[in-house]
Amino acid sequence: MSVRRLAEIQPASFAFTPENAAWCDKQIAKYPEHRQASAILSLLWRAQKQHDYWLPKPAIEDVARRLSMPYIRVLEVATFYTMFNLEPVGKYFIQMCGTTPCVLAGSDDIKAVLEKRVGPQRHVTADGLFSWLEVECLGACCNAPMVQINDDYYEDLSAENFNTLLDDLAAGRPVTIGSQTGRRTSEPAGGLTSLLSLYGVDGKSGPECGTHDPNKHYTPTEPEAPKDVTATQEPAPAQPAQARSEQEAKHSVAQPEKTEETGTARTEPSAPKDKA
Ligand code: FES
Repeated sequence: MSVRRLAEIQPASFAFTPENAAWCDKQIAKYPEHRQASAILSLLWRAQKQHDYWLPKPAIEDVARRLSMPYIRVLEVATFYTMFNLEPVGKYFIQMCGTTPCVLAGSDDIKAVLEKRVGPQRHVTADGLFSWLEVECLGACCNAPMVQINDDYYEDLSAENFNTLLDDLAAGRPVTIGSQTGRRTSEPAGGLTSLLSLYGVDGKSGPECGTHDPNKHYTPTEPEAPKDVTATQEPAPAQPAQARSEQEAKHSVAQPEKTEETGTARTEPSAPKDKA
């Protein structure tokens, strides 16, 4: 684990904007009396976002005052979680996933681009635009390799499309968030293989595309009740072979057949054997 210390150069003061101060009050009010410390992550996060994505010491002190907590306890939290930057970062702060699925999918190429264009980790480029950090899994392994830049994910990266992405950001051009290869969410990279009649071969042109209303609350369909619940039952517990054959001989009935669908035994016995 890396050592996390406050930056050597600190601003003289920090104050939440009136809007953010009101937001903090709202978060604190969510918790019962004497439990206001629970709002600590929200407040530190808000402070970081207000302060160019890094957390200076005066901001940590401000949060401690608002939550009536000792400064050292808030400092402990700020230095523990890597989501908090303790030193200045670039305008575009890049968190590159270096966990196994991303490594296997080529994150070393992305790392090489960052080292070449931005420099070592935590270094901010001279124009203040970029800095980067290698982090653990960001939960988008299906679209590996990927990076998070500020609040957004950029996925399905290659050295080529990542270079283009950085060029576009540097030039202030619009960029596409998410997959950089045109893949929709985490659908198969080679295109859809099922539900084609609903969503089309390209996943975008079927009759179901565009019909989802994000404001509507969908209720999952209840599974249908079995038509005849008395028709099936769990198989009887296993018995020693000899005891079973004695029992079968006694009752003179055939073994129950297994259903094709479920593999469970039906209760209806076969017709008794004709003893005549
Ligand atoms: S391993 Fe990279 S996002 Fe999960």
